[in-house]
Amino acid sequence: MSEAHPETLALIEGLLKEQRTFPPPDELRRSAIIGDDSVYREAEEDFEGFWARLADEFLTWYRKPAKRLEWNPPHCTWFEDGVLNVAYNCLDRHVEAGRGEKVAYHWVGEAPGESRDITYAELLRDVSRLANGLRELGVGRGDRVGIYMGMVPELPVAMLACARIGAPHMVVFGGFSAESLAERLRDAGATVLVTQDEGWRKGGKVPLKANADQAVAMAPEVRRVVVLRHTGDPVPWEEHDVWWHELVADVPDTCEPEPMGAEDTLYLLHTSGSTAKPKGALHTSAGYLLHAAVTHKWIFDIHDDSVWWCAADVGWVTGHSYIVYGPLANGTTSVLYEGDPAYPDWDRHWQIIERYGVTSYYTAPTLIRSFVKMGEEYPGRHDLSSLRVLGTVGEPINPEAWVWYWKVIGGGRCPVVDTWWQTETGGILITPLPGVTTLKPGSATVAFPGISSRIVDEQGNPVERGSGGFLIVDKPWPGMFRTLFGDDERYVRTYFSKYGPGVYVTGDGAKQDEDGYYWLMGRIDDVINVAGHRLSTTEIESTLVEHPAVAEAAATGAYDPDRGQRIVCFVLLKDGFGASEELGEELREFVAGKIGKIARPAAVLFGDDLPKTRSGKIMRRLLKNIAEGDELGDTTTLRDPAIVEDLKRKADHALGRG
Ligand code: WTA
Repeated sequence: MSEAHPETLALIEGLLKEQRTFPPPDELRRSAIIGDDSVYREAEEDFEGFWARLADEFLTWYRKPAKRLEWNPPHCTWFEDGVLNVAYNCLDRHVEAGRGEKVAYHWVGEAPGESRDITYAELLRDVSRLANGLRELGVGRGDRVGIYMGMVPELPVAMLACARIGAPHMVVFGGFSAESLAERLRDAGATVLVTQDEGWRKGGKVPLKANADQAVAMAPEVRRVVVLRHTGDPVPWEEHDVWWHELVADVPDTCEPEPMGAEDTLYLLHTSGSTAKPKGALHTSAGYLLHAAVTHKWIFDIHDDSVWWCAADVGWVTGHSYIVYGPLANGTTSVLYEGDPAYPDWDRHWQIIERYGVTSYYTAPTLIRSFVKMGEEYPGRHDLSSLRVLGTVGEPINPEAWVWYWKVIGGGRCPVVDTWWQTETGGILITPLPGVTTLKPGSATVAFPGISSRIVDEQGNPVERGSGGFLIVDKPWPGMFRTLFGDDERYVRTYFSKYGPGVYVTGDGAKQDEDGYYWLMGRIDDVINVAGHRLSTTEIESTLVEHPAVAEAAATGAYDPDRGQRIVCFVLLKDGFGASEELGEELREFVAGKIGKIARPAAVLFGDDLPKTRSGKIMRRLLKNIAEGDELGDTTTLRDPAIVEDLKRKADHALGRG
């Protein structure tokens, strides 16, 4: 926090020392969509009835459901006999209600000066045209469509076009490598891929089409590739490619939406687990849309005239739920920004907030910490007085950064809602409501109405307030994933076996304080969280051993003050290969190339062995201690205790600890 203004620093210190809490500002309490705790009581009395009331209020149905929850642990359905179309709910009904001229997205390109406003009527037309184009390519109900794009308006268009014709989409973050894309395309059995020539990032161009070509060569089921022209540079061309603009050149402007069952699949989205193979979380239609819409409106206090900005990437679940489905279902005006927060300078976000009068802004703690570092001068250049609510997601936020955000960005007026959730949960589960909840910096506070979460010990017994344990959810909710695509057995085993089929295991450790507030403590499995992105240690390890020089590898997440965690790898080389800085660099590049830049290790350490017990099991706790520069504790069970001293010296050196 060294770059914060001295006055801000003193304030932060003072507030934290007083353990100050932050009740909702009076004005917000009076004007908020949810201004008292009656929704908590309603949901407590009858959570199924609560969600059913909202399903009636928030969704437009072709056939209203008579059913509510059907729970055959660990599988559930919500509103199963209902029929609707998600794209209709996000677009047509707003246009039919006379709101076609309302802006859906203020799109801002990365190149300064480039921007475009897209109204609901225009979005509906673009979606309908692409939906017709996809139908011409033979895409229909149930066919999976891969999407590999940057943050352009056509990305939500592609998702909604799929939803319109009942084809589940599978978006792959544009920062992932060709191999990662190929693996996900194969796993989903996608037959069509939508991509673009290139994307803009940090003033440079990302070769999306070239990556997609490589991926498709490894994913033989893909038979057509739709290519959006964005930067306009020439790109390699394959026979199965078709330009987006040519595909939609002669199609009608309207497209009948496909009536879909509430439980039909809306999309698959892959996330990292504790094995090398990513898991395709499967989300269905009605319950998911309901959860996204209700949480969006209530947590970020979205009114008709609100201007909303979720600064995540659509390639992650946060973008799915809070850039695309939640805001569009609510008919909200959103900002969609293509590029980097530091391009061309660190005030880009503040400039955008000022320009569009953004009222609610949602981002990741890792970015807030970068803003803190860059100093108050950047936000100081802009008028941020339109802001009313600030949000965070993706990792725990340290109280210092929380208070800085509240003071410097929110001007001390705006509640900071720290929202906890996961790809699997579909929408936010633990969060304040800004007009109701008294905030404590660093705590995600309490469960959303209708969500039943608890902290339990290893045996599943409730733990005392103040003690740590495993965060679980013991009742289903509408937005939860229904299975892992093609691997229901893994769904059951990973999430519903530890405490029986009725209890969802989140994989996060947490504690509740004396007021019942949740404090998240990070993953308890082999998942690393770098800058809010989930990465699997196993995936990194199995990538490393693909390199010809590597005999064995272990990866761990170590605390990083800016990015939450960083990846530290331990490598045992094959005979004939010598450790060197160049090889270390080569291996870091290798991992980045195979998985994606976000997976680039901060350090690769070579050892004569890895810290193993006599039975040959790698001691993961020790890896973490070494990587974090902690005391090593008891090493007597190790096969060769000298190993760790050597690794510790190397780690301290590589990570700049003297
Ligand atoms: C972590 C992102 C603390 C957590 C929406 C979770 C958080 C994982 C928070 C899911 C938060 C997310 N406080 N930790 N407010 N939000 N996490 O699937 O470890 O990309 O399990 O979904 O991020 O990451 P995912």
